[in-house]
Amino acid sequence: MGTSEIVGKQAEVFNYGVVRQFSVMTVVWGIIGMSVGLLVALQLIWPELNFETPWFSYGRLRPVHTNLVIFAFGGNALFATSYYVVQRTCQVRLYCTKLASFTFWGWQLVMLGALITLPMGFTSSKEYAEMEWPLDILITIVWVSYAVVFFGTIVKRRVRHIYVANWFYGAFITTIAVLHIFNNLEIPVSMWKSYSVYAGVQDAMVQWWYGHNAVGFFLTTSFLGMMYYFVPKQANRPVYSYRLSIVHFWALAFTYMWAGPHHLLYTSLPDWTQSLGMTFSLILLAPSWGGMINGIMTLSGAWHKLRTDPILKFLVTSLSFYGMSTFEGSMMAIRTVNSLSHYTDWTIGHVHSGALGWVAMVTFGSLYYMIPRLYGQKQMALPKLVEVHFWVATLGVVLYIAAMWISGVMQGLMWRATAPDGLLTYSFVEGVKATYPFYAIRALGGFMFVCGIVMMGVNVFLTAWGKPRVNPVVPLTNPDAISPTNVGPAVVTE
Ligand code: HEM
Ligand code: HEM
Repeated sequence: MGTSEIVGKQAEVFNYGVVRQFSVMTVVWGIIGMSVGLLVALQLIWPELNFETPWFSYGRLRPVHTNLVIFAFGGNALFATSYYVVQRTCQVRLYCTKLASFTFWGWQLVMLGALITLPMGFTSSKEYAEMEWPLDILITIVWVSYAVVFFGTIVKRRVRHIYVANWFYGAFITTIAVLHIFNNLEIPVSMWKSYSVYAGVQDAMVQWWYGHNAVGFFLTTSFLGMMYYFVPKQANRPVYSYRLSIVHFWALAFTYMWAGPHHLLYTSLPDWTQSLGMTFSLILLAPSWGGMINGIMTLSGAWHKLRTDPILKFLVTSLSFYGMSTFEGSMMAIRTVNSLSHYTDWTIGHVHSGALGWVAMVTFGSLYYMIPRLYGQKQMALPKLVEVHFWVATLGVVLYIAAMWISGVMQGLMWRATAPDGLLTYSFVEGVKATYPFYAIRALGGFMFVCGIVMMGVNVFLTAWGKPRVNPVVPLTNPDAISPTNVGPAVVTE
């Protein structure tokens, strides 16, 4: 294909309204979800913080935290950025305004449902899929609408080339639909209780096929889509290697699907399945690092900007955490390493190096880029606060994950230590007691991270309140031009 072509010339405006709604709610849900995370972290130090009520008990609040940070914070961020990116790179208004608006209200309803039903104890008890069947059905309806809006926009695009970020978003939307439906096949027995159609080890296998790919597609592939738009834009450079972006896209999508059994090592799952999961997890390192290298190298020629640009700092630091957590994950999938790490805080450290370091940081960078543009501003109301947010958040993650690594390895070693007569050297309680200081350090790191997102909330409020809600006209020329020689939305800033 030669240079990009603009197909059709009808004047229309971008739908930034729904992007604004999702963006603001990303920050709101982020503050709520992470504060619940901080509360459960504090409960591990002071169990009395459950206030002796079942609704505030650790077992019920933990899934509230995971659902809100993954699906409400992460989900809203993905809706917001995918709707923005697909419009910009396809040079066309979002398909079906009403349906797009329905996805917004529908998704908020789902998350509100999680926030109410999970503390009440209604749960399907499947990790990361705890919501009960009525909410599962609502998720399916919203998700199918999302797919119609997103792919509908791709179909009516004015630029022939489908920019790579859209491939990542598209794979995420398609895969999550399949995962959600098959993992949640269940038989309702009352309004808020159902049983899975799978039993025993099959249930576990389906659960972790879902769980691992939720990580792979909800927390990774989709956020790579974000990275492929916002890193080139903010650095004002084309993607380092467009070819690499395509190669690692297919490699990642293919490989992730097989790695689920690494969550079930040393269980009754057939041995060959466990070996398969471990092998594919090691292979997964290659496409993962392909993406990381492609993102970081996009800064070639623009490294000096890192000194002064806090948005780029967020984006590049997130890629470093992405590289680190995927390396760690591949190592943890090796059986002998997993025999030490499984059940320990090491897993929690790994999770948050991905979740805070990668997912949250790339989201912060992308929102700081997008929000001023959505409200007709040149920059955030308090640009210095963006820099402060960056440092507070980075220090927070480092404290969190370092504490969990140390306590995790310590727990693993204490649990397996035996005296020459074969008796355990440490009782379980001794292990718990030794972990306390690290829980305190983790809570401090979490507190800093929460402070960071509250700062962001203030900054977003000041940038958006009372400002014009712009919906720019889709240009008839093609500023976001995409062609094989100048790939990426790199050259032009709005
Ligand atoms: C202020 C920030 C946060 C704090 C203080 C925090 C704290 C916690 C705590 C205490 C747990 C339970 C650990 C355990 O059971 O031992 C947890 C679990 C978890 N958190 Fe967070 N969290 C934060 C942010 C996030 C974010 C932003 C995400 C995702 C985007 C996330 C995803 C998860 C997941 C997936 C788990 C379950 C891990 C597992 O089962 O292995 N967290 N978090
Ligand atoms: C090459 C990429 C990755 C591989 C091979 C990998 C591998 C692993 C392994 C082996 C475990 C421990 C399973 C266990 O012992 O129970 C694990 C847990 C986990 N990982 Fe990763 N990981 C990768 C990337 C990531 C990223 C980028 C994130 C987050 C954004 C993430 C989120 C999680 C979560 C949430 C869990 C805990 C699941 C649970 O038990 O509830 N992983 N991963």
